[in-house]
Amino acid sequence: MDSNASCFDKEIDRTNSNSDKWTKYPQDVIPLWVADMDFESPDCIKTALNERIEHGVFGYTHASNELENTIVEYAKRRYDWSISSAQIVHLPGLVCALHLAVRAFSSEGDTIIVPSPIYPNFNKAVLHANRELSHVEMQIEDGRWVLDMQAFEIACAQPNSKMILLCNPHNPGGTVYTRAELEAIHQLAQRYDLLVVSDEIHCDLILDDVPHVPFASVNEDATNRTITLMAPSKTFNVAGLGYAFAVIANPALRATFNNAKAGLVPYPNLLGLIAANAAFGEGQDWHESLLSYLKENRNIIERWLPSTPLKMVHLEATYLAWIDVSALQLNSVHQFFLDAGVGISDGKDFGNPNYIRLNFGCPKSRLEDAIKRINDALKKHNYL
Ligand SMILES: Cc1ncc(COP(=O)(O)O)c(C=O)c1O
Repeated sequence: MDSNASCFDKEIDRTNSNSDKWTKYPQDVIPLWVADMDFESPDCIKTALNERIEHGVFGYTHASNELENTIVEYAKRRYDWSISSAQIVHLPGLVCALHLAVRAFSSEGDTIIVPSPIYPNFNKAVLHANRELSHVEMQIEDGRWVLDMQAFEIACAQPNSKMILLCNPHNPGGTVYTRAELEAIHQLAQRYDLLVVSDEIHCDLILDDVPHVPFASVNEDATNRTITLMAPSKTFNVAGLGYAFAVIANPALRATFNNAKAGLVPYPNLLGLIAANAAFGEGQDWHESLLSYLKENRNIIERWLPSTPLKMVHLEATYLAWIDVSALQLNSVHQFFLDAGVGISDGKDFGNPNYIRLNFGCPKSRLEDAIKRINDALKKHNYL
């Protein structure tokens, strides 16, 4: 079943499964908002979890050497990135690590540089800690969202700037930074002595034939000034199991991060650890099938949009389409799509009210239904 794309066609009823995605809206709305997928996780994860549950004793726990070795091998296999077990910090989620890193490595009043628009927790991590937020806009260049490097350099050069929060691949917009782009970012980080926190949670969701380059792997200096954050949760659809990890090669940074974490951040859930080991160790075939399926859903959207006033820059990665709806000149973007029967994420929450983010990590039939509903609404309001 795993290696067969049809496992992604299965329509699974999630309405009574404590799903955030499926309880936010009335039942007749297709929820295409928060970033989880409507797919079952691979059999290797379900089997590993079932075996552990059958054991029946669920006391205090820790990450096994096996999981750490699995992560080390995965980083080498997928990214040719050499890390060691000692550099891994286990976490119950990635968002808490963003907040923690801001608090651990900067002081009140310091400035943190964040690309915009961005997944909202980046901004919250800065603002909740009373740090200054310095936004650098993403702009469209040669059909890709890229950082405005001139504005980025100006931001880096400010005397209070302490840290860059990078999102690679970028959410929203799906930019997979090239090695050259990462090197340019690194040069400025080095010149102005800035720490880099690189959220790479979407790195295994690349839909084009382009490689993911971990920022920390760009060169030795980058290795020593970077906190890399990764997780199996987006790729293997296990966000509810609560597991992520940081890779921190620099022992001083790792110690500071671990001190900030001690007593405040709980150890990851046992089942999250089990799922991560199965995902990174045995999930490759399912992962390949997932990427083909998502690519086809992405292509369906890219073929559909030109027949409407809506626009999208080609999406290199993620299952989150970032769609320009400015041509509709709506008073309430979110309400328009809700009235159409589709629950999307409002672009204003990411920093651009002219956009929506639409999650296509669902069976093709559901995506096609959503597209039909949106088309019907566009016709009804004379946009088509
Ligand atoms: C860029 C990014 N970071 C972090 C997260 C969430 O991480 P976690 O659920 O591990 O806290 C998301 C979820 O959509 C995300 O898009």
